[in-house]
Amino acid sequence: MALCLGDGSTMIEITRFTELDTEIKSALKGFIKNEFGHIPIVKQTEWASPDWTVIYFVGNQIATFYNIIEREISIDGKESKVAGINNVITPKEFRGNGYASKLLSETENLIFEKLKSEFGVLLCADSLIPFYEKLGWYKIDCPVYFKQSVGERLWGANTMLLTKGKKVTPTLVKLNGLPW
Ligand SMILES: CC(C)(COP(=O)(O)OP(=O)(O)OC[C@H]1O[C@@H](n2cnc3c(N)ncnc32)[C@H](O)[C@@H]1OP(=O)(O)O)[C@@H](O)C(=O)NCCC(=O)NCCS
Repeated sequence: MALCLGDGSTMIEITRFTELDTEIKSALKGFIKNEFGHIPIVKQTEWASPDWTVIYFVGNQIATFYNIIEREISIDGKESKVAGINNVITPKEFRGNGYASKLLSETENLIFEKLKSEFGVLLCADSLIPFYEKLGWYKIDCPVYFKQSVGERLWGANTMLLTKGKKVTPTLVKLNGLPW
């Protein structure tokens, strides 16, 4: 699925992860490894595989991208369909041009309309909170559990939500699988 933006030199492509072109997949893998590959907690954790990849192309170059994991998670005991967002990355040479903000806001409806999710959910470090807040995401302050082969674990950093309507304040979240 491709959406054209602006003058035709930029394009957003939304692709099932399993259908990504091999070269693109390996380029994305390289960007992810560069950004997060050296972080001990990233190396020590088992992560979910994405269902979708959303890429913003400038010409034929990857200017920014992110992945989506579709999941039914448990929020205060109720199962809710969510779109988990991860690996939001703008390659260094494209940073500071508003590309990540633009991609996330332009594709917000993907979460609610096409994927019929009730929430966007992302797990992030403290420093990124203001960036996502500007885009309408908000931090929740409750325990968030995820699965690993060794059992259930408590997420130690931040969890942010995106909702279409009013903000929610859950008291317990279970991701019902690997984190993203
Ligand atoms: C975060 C990131 C995706 C932003 O991409 P971008 O295309 O440059 O984003 P935009 O131009 O839309 O917005 C840039 C804003 O993000 C902020 N930002 C970027 N990286 C940041 C960081 N590590 N900590 C805090 N703020 C950060 C910038 O200060 C800027 O804020 P401003 O709008 O108030 O000036 C990019 O810096 C990146 O790939 N970082 C490394 C990977 C990463 O940490 N991803 C987030 C995973 S949760």
